[in-house]
Amino acid sequence: MENNSAAAFIQLKNLTRIYHQGERQQLVLDGICGEIQRGEAVALLGRSGCGKSTLLNLIGGIDRPDAGDVVINGSCINRMDEHGRTLFRRRHIGFIYQFFNLIPTLTVVENLLLPLELNGWDLAEGRRRSMALLEEVGLAQREASYPDQLSGGEQQRVAVARALVHRPALVLADEPTGNLDAESGQQVLELLDRLVRDEQCTLIMVTHSQVVAARTDRTFSLKQGRLVSDGEMVW
Ligand SMILES: Nc1ncnc2c1ncn2[C@@H]1O[C@H](COP(=O)(O)OP(=O)(O)OP(=O)(O)O)[C@@H](O)[C@H]1O
Ligand SMILES: [Mg+2]
Repeated sequence: MENNSAAAFIQLKNLTRIYHQGERQQLVLDGICGEIQRGEAVALLGRSGCGKSTLLNLIGGIDRPDAGDVVINGSCINRMDEHGRTLFRRRHIGFIYQFFNLIPTLTVVENLLLPLELNGWDLAEGRRRSMALLEEVGLAQREASYPDQLSGGEQQRVAVARALVHRPALVLADEPTGNLDAESGQQVLELLDRLVRDEQCTLIMVTHSQVVAARTDRTFSLKQGRLVSDGEMVW
């Protein structure tokens, strides 16, 4: 993604999200404002149910705010139509979730090739890139395995490789180690940390762990629908 603006890479402008269920309304995000610079790795903390995944899904264009804007590199993604958002996401964003979300009917290497095919990569080049990343995450020899033949930690390392394979400018991770034991979690984090820096991605990572958060450049907490930084309401 070319840098086409002097403004922050990611701008969150007064984001509001209200869930409606029958009569019940829940204000989950109450005017979130903030900026993230290109190349930053930031952690998003907060109690269960406070809206972390909701916010990540707005930034990734999976969901749309009821009010406010998400601007990424000058593009306001919530004003794009569904197709435009899908294309933007496919090209510029990599997602990593708590529960891996690999496609069970595809092998490890096919899981990596899929986002490249969707982006129109040349097949041979895509294969080279996929194998190089599998090498990085220590799983090149498992390229022909199916996800259910891998351990949780191994699946998550594939998910990290898949999130990065198409060279996204932005990586969004929603509790990427939440489902792993401490040692596998540590491995996945070290990998993620190294790869996002090598590949010069911007990273937003949801975590419940202060230790994990401490490895990032900056930490935010979500409290009562607002973003809080370093214990103080800054926005
Ligand atoms: N699609 C939905 N419809 C209605 N309510 C929802 C929906 N998605 C989330 N919520 C509610 O919004 C609130 C925030 O949910 P969210 O998943 O963003 O929390 P979270 O901070 O990611 O929690 P956790 O740490 O447990 O993953 C919760 O109270 C949840 O029940
Ligand atoms: Mg969540």
